[in-house]
Amino acid sequence: MNEIESVTVVGAGTMGSQIALQTALAGRYQVTLVDAVAGQLDRARAQNRKLVDRAVEKGRLTKERADAALDRITASNDVEKAAAKADLVIEAVIEDFETKKAVFTALGSAAGHDAILASNSSTIAISRLADITGNPARCCNMHFFHPVTVMQLCEVVKGPKTSDATVKAATDFVRSIDRTPVVLNKEIWGFIVNRILFAASEEAMHLLEGGYASAEDIDIAVQKGLNWPMGPFHLLDFSGLDIFYGAMQDRHRQGEGGDAPEVLRKLVEAGDLGRKTGKGFFEYEK
Ligand SMILES: NC(=O)c1ccc[n+]([C@@H]2O[C@H](COP(=O)([O-])OP(=O)(O)OC[C@H]3O[C@@H](n4cnc5c(N)ncnc54)[C@H](O)[C@@H]3O)[C@@H](O)[C@H]2O)c1
Repeated sequence: MNEIESVTVVGAGTMGSQIALQTALAGRYQVTLVDAVAGQLDRARAQNRKLVDRAVEKGRLTKERADAALDRITASNDVEKAAAKADLVIEAVIEDFETKKAVFTALGSAAGHDAILASNSSTIAISRLADITGNPARCCNMHFFHPVTVMQLCEVVKGPKTSDATVKAATDFVRSIDRTPVVLNKEIWGFIVNRILFAASEEAMHLLEGGYASAEDIDIAVQKGLNWPMGPFHLLDFSGLDIFYGAMQDRHRQGEGGDAPEVLRKLVEAGDLGRKTGKGFFEYEK
């Protein structure tokens, strides 16, 4: 297996742009950030500039390190060229199977035989994409959390054909960019964190629907009794109820759990999607 020197991130949206930045901040990787949509690479660069400038202002980063990190990121709209020189490719395009399939097809033909090919998908297991590359042993999920520059965790998920060497290289890489890896030895819908989050959120909604307690009191109970920084309803509102609703429906379709609770469906249908629309389980100032 090649030592990882060059990392390509495909998809310069919310996740990809920050995965690229966190990688560049390690100070030892050349990073190529790829996007297919005009203007997105400029937006990603501007957002990353803002993030590092704020960190410099707060004294968490030196100006030299911030500038050096941004300089290490090259923008590209040619996925094949960017994949050809990478030792590790992290795919972070939109959560759409056909789009990811097209990207993994391109990676399969363009990336070197030794390159690790990872997907940051929250719900599409690597076993659905790995065979297309012709080299499934080199493929895994690397599931980072939003915002990547703040959230420490990365779930590294082993597909049925992923080699131990790939898992080791992926976990070593995660540590090298100052993030904490955990390994799932077998694929399962939602990986670890989302399964536990969904179970807790679903229970909170059932308590609310049953009239056992208010959303306020359920949140206070979880915050004060379990020491969560935020209760489940505030977390749902913060994440976006539509995102959560879509993921619950996906879980149901895959036979992994019940349909989304009524209270959630009604809010989504009313367009009350949480913090971003000013109203969800709670109301917010716009
Ligand atoms: N947002 C989150 O909180 C979060 C958390 C963990 C994992 N994820 C996963 O990360 C992935 C990306 O999510 P996001 O929130 O960053 O999405 P996003 O919509 O913000 O960004 C996706 C980017 O992919 C680009 N893109 C689309 N098709 C492309 C292609 N063929 N080639 C190159 N670029 C292409 C889009 O232009 C866009 O910039 C998804 O799989 C999602 O499940 C998201």
